[in-house]
Amino acid sequence: MPKPAPGQPGYIFDPYALDFAVDPYPTYAWMREQAPVYHQPEMNFWMLTRYEDVCKAHQDAATFSSSAGPKIERMDYASSLLIGKDAPDHVWAKGMMTRVFSRARMAALEGFIQEQAVALLEGCYERHGPDGEFDVVKEFTVPMPLTVISELLGIPEGPREDIHHLSNEYISRESGSESSAQSEAHAKLWKIYFDLTQQRRLEPKDDPISLLIAIEETDDQGVVHKMSDQEIATRFLEMGFAGHETVAKTIPNGLMALMRFPEERAKYAADLSATPRLVQEVLRYDPPSQLQGRLTMREVTLHGVTIPADARVMLATAAATRDPRAFPDPDRFDLDRENDKRTIAFGFGVHKCLGIHLAQMELAIAFTELFTRFPNWEVFPDRATRVALSNVRGVASLPMRLGARA
Ligand code: HEM
Repeated sequence: MPKPAPGQPGYIFDPYALDFAVDPYPTYAWMREQAPVYHQPEMNFWMLTRYEDVCKAHQDAATFSSSAGPKIERMDYASSLLIGKDAPDHVWAKGMMTRVFSRARMAALEGFIQEQAVALLEGCYERHGPDGEFDVVKEFTVPMPLTVISELLGIPEGPREDIHHLSNEYISRESGSESSAQSEAHAKLWKIYFDLTQQRRLEPKDDPISLLIAIEETDDQGVVHKMSDQEIATRFLEMGFAGHETVAKTIPNGLMALMRFPEERAKYAADLSATPRLVQEVLRYDPPSQLQGRLTMREVTLHGVTIPADARVMLATAAATRDPRAFPDPDRFDLDRENDKRTIAFGFGVHKCLGIHLAQMELAIAFTELFTRFPNWEVFPDRATRVALSNVRGVASLPMRLGARA
């Protein structure tokens, strides 16, 4: 018997259903209109889907704590991550990271990113020609951000290859739960970062690890904080994943959206100066980071529904960016949409993405280089592989053909 659809008696939202992974937007639309404070009884979590509610919750970190991690399932080690910290620890921990991974450090990578994008695309053309099909995720959208994040983190050539291999192993998961191979990859990655940190403590260099070892941040109580080697390794692991999987999934989401809206694609192809708007619209229309997990620190009543204290709440930014109250005709991909200031795909409030400038630059370069060189590209979403993960949305593989050169 088919499962009940949203709105039908007996319907229970399944965040791991494959049809939700393929197209979550009808479910979000139903929740937004009919159940703006949805309670999932089996896994016992709540979902906020309206733009205003999601923004307000993001900004109220005292009520909506990050301490149980970003996923639906509570994480017991969340507070070791930046994304799982609350004030006051989050304030100094983020302060340190922002000082080392500054906007200027990210901007300095522009030339490097461009070189990588061009080399990878040209490599695909050399191997497959204009008509050969290949997996754009494997050959372009994963390797590009992986190399870029290693460069940002200042990973030396030696361990870089192992890091890339292990990171790939970790993100190529096929379900929400971690397999033993993935846990092993996770542990090995942490050890590589930890060993590197210990080496730099003995012999500092002019690189981000050495800067993090040296940095001190004083909190508002006058306490001076320094990072341990364990903390630095954990922070690098977090940066490695946060900066890799999101960008790797956004590019295919954008390519599929452009295939679905050929007029918008033609408009962009005719005027690549619209790239910043394209990037914003891709992130609004189909963001890779769809849900952000929170834990209520007190009882909250919203739209007549009371969420108890210590409850798991998912802030559905991907539903919020399709809220017609904030974005007229939200299911339309619209290159001319004015949405910069209201974009919440990178979060909103104290946990706003640390890599926002880098991510936007990578996406801009990826789309610009592709359209400049191979404007006739095609992707085949019907044959893409989807992964049913609770908070990251995107394809695990996507067939592509580059077509004739410009
Ligand atoms: C398209 C690409 C990206 C998207 C859509 C994205 C999205 C997000 C979102 C929604 C959050 C907030 C999570 C929350 O509120 O719980 C976040 C946080 C974060 N992101 Fe990104 N991200 C992207 C790329 C990157 C990159 C390239 C890096 C690293 C260079 C990065 C590092 C981080 C870190 C460290 C945090 C935690 C910040 C904090 O807790 O204060 N992200 N990101």
